Amino acid sequence: MLKLKPRLNMAAEMVRTGSRIADIGTDHAYLPVILILNNKIPHAIAADLRKGPLENAESTVKLNSVEDKIELRLSDGLEYIEPDEVDDIVIAGMGGILIAEILSKAEWTKDSTKNLVLQPQSHSENLREFLFENGYEITNEQACFEDDKVYICMNAVYSGNTGEHSEAELIFGSFLDRKDEPSMAFVEKKLKRLKARYDALIQQSVENDETERLKKIITEAELCLQ
Ligand SMILES: C[S@@+](CC[C@H](N)C(=O)[O-])C[C@H]1O[C@@H](n2cnc3c(N)ncnc32)[C@H](O)[C@@H]1O
Repeated sequence: MLKLKPRLNMAAEMVRTGSRIADIGTDHAYLPVILILNNKIPHAIAADLRKGPLENAESTVKLNSVEDKIELRLSDGLEYIEPDEVDDIVIAGMGGILIAEILSKAEWTKDSTKNLVLQPQSHSENLREFLFENGYEITNEQACFEDDKVYICMNAVYSGNTGEHSEAELIFGSFLDRKDEPSMAFVEKKLKRLKARYDALIQQSVENDETERLKKIITEAELCLQ
């Protein structure tokens, strides 16, 4: 019996019940297959840029006899997905910069009825910056542990509002206010990197815009953690 590990399970839980989904960069198609098997969704497009991963997807789909509910599709990002085919879009297991690039090429995701489930493996601050600058709102963020690593996932939806966001907000998202262990571990990981960079600059007696910037972010984050 197929079972999702915590990272993909977190993303699967952020899909709306009853939605038709596109899973972009599906690889083995575990997420759409489980959602179909659990009767959470009626249909999925499992899409990938490359044939190899799509063959992995085909194996999982056939093994679980869900060929009638999952369509496999070669697509660079959302290029070959039509807006009226999907309600929720999952993009998981890629860097935040690539996720932002994929969304930037699909203006049709600027639609308040579409629920985006985004699971950046890195550069989540770049993804948040893209979302905020382009009128998407982050409506939910979650963190979880898998194999001693912390992963995050977010729901985003287009609202048209673009507001000012501090660098600390871009880096830590909504996790600064949270007390659950994975959220705190995510904040600690980010803070540790910022402090290491700051300390290295100070040790080299460098005092410039970057040191000022880092100091401001670290101070803002530490204030929230008190
Ligand atoms: C690390 S796997 C993630 C698989 C699965 N989504 C997960 O989270 O476990 C990344 C997948 O994204 C695919 N990919 C990379 N760039 C892509 C793009 N521009 N469009 C569609 N798929 C892409 C890769 O071929 C690969 O199968």
